[in-house]
Amino acid sequence: MNNILILGIDGYIGWPLAMHLASIGHRVSGIDNFARRRNVRSVGSASAIPIADMDERIEVFKRQHGKNITFYEGDILDYEFLADVMKKEHPRTIIHLAEQPSAPFSMIDRPHAVYTQHNNVEGTLNVLYAMKEIVPEAHLVKLGTMGEYGTPNLEIPEGFFEVEYKGRRDVLPFPRQPGSLYHLSKVHDSANCLFACRVWGLCITDIMQGVVYGTRTREITHERLATRFDFDESFGTVINRYCAQAVIGHSLTSYGRGTQRRGFIDLVDSIQCLTIATENPASKGQYRVFNQLDEVYSIMQLARYVADAAKKIGLDVKIDCLPNPRVEKEEHYYSVQHEHLKNLGFKPTRKITETLDIMLKDLLQYRQRIIEKRDAILPKTRWMGEIVSVQPNMPTGVTA
Ligand SMILES: NC(=O)c1ccc[n+]([C@@H]2O[C@H](COP(=O)([O-])OP(=O)(O)OC[C@H]3O[C@@H](n4cnc5c(N)ncnc54)[C@H](O)[C@@H]3O)[C@@H](O)[C@H]2O)c1
Repeated sequence: MNNILILGIDGYIGWPLAMHLASIGHRVSGIDNFARRRNVRSVGSASAIPIADMDERIEVFKRQHGKNITFYEGDILDYEFLADVMKKEHPRTIIHLAEQPSAPFSMIDRPHAVYTQHNNVEGTLNVLYAMKEIVPEAHLVKLGTMGEYGTPNLEIPEGFFEVEYKGRRDVLPFPRQPGSLYHLSKVHDSANCLFACRVWGLCITDIMQGVVYGTRTREITHERLATRFDFDESFGTVINRYCAQAVIGHSLTSYGRGTQRRGFIDLVDSIQCLTIATENPASKGQYRVFNQLDEVYSIMQLARYVADAAKKIGLDVKIDCLPNPRVEKEEHYYSVQHEHLKNLGFKPTRKITETLDIMLKDLLQYRQRIIEKRDAILPKTRWMGEIVSVQPNMPTGVTA
């Protein structure tokens, strides 16, 4: 049994991960400040699938699965709070998901960019210091993103590559060329994590994760145990937006020509990989990078998969191309090494097409909730040009 502290336990991945780790016998505690719930509200949206509050989640989980999860409400930017929890729990593994995870949200305007980098970079620095001072032997599993690498015209290795320059060779971090200020916050985190291993001897697995999709995991056995499903332009990833559009009869809107290629992974497999990383820790002083994805798809190919799955349940949807609000290459090479997790036993659970069938069926029940927030789906935030500012309900730390 491992003693695991999950930072960001109320999130899309954090909650089902906590249930999974607890159900297989680990002792699980977690921290969250509910920023994700507030931030989604601030862009005029809501989770399509209703989610219970944390007390209810824990209570229903205990009733259904007979296991306990301990929750601490608070902000990891508050160092005293974080250090107190670390002293109390003394975790052997810390899984750090507690960041602002949306690229468009970070690109809305200066306050949102500052909020994102302050929350993510300072939060991670606090975690590194708390580990150094309180649990220096613990293993940190830190969530980065495949977006840190950008789309180089080379095969993307797992973190490091061998370079020859002017007759000399070295193994160096692979260059990062992120496409948003959110992705850049993760690059800063990676540099800080590498430093903490090199200089303080901490042990860290930095996960470059692809885009996660799905509504179901084995432990979601009751509707009050569901994880969130966002579909707005900021927090809804491309598959989520397509699925939400399909169930309300809106055309699936691809950005630009749709030829952008990215890595994707099912929620059950993200959890499988994080469990593998947790159960096979890095060694003392080691900074290890895993590329965590299953398959690479173009976003147009995904639109076709969603349209096909929708047809099977009687929904006829068109695919449209919108002017791309982002600054990104549309035609590009994309090849990613992702062997480390496979070598440790990762096997994909099912095909994306099966998961899409499940997602659409789940979402159909909440069609009305998506219709009510449909204005939040289409992109308003542009990487360049006109800046559209958001709403009344700004998240903590952001001033309009
Ligand atoms: N979901 C994806 O497709 C995806 C892909 C690649 C990487 N990631 C990364 O995985 C991690 C989890 O992603 P997610 O989709 O579950 O995001 P999420 O927003 O649902 O979860 C993050 C949780 O952390 C909490 N949080 C944020 N800042 C905090 C703070 N300062 N103190 C305490 N709690 C805080 C939020 O309230 C939220 O519940 C993130 O770091 C994200 O960048 C996600």
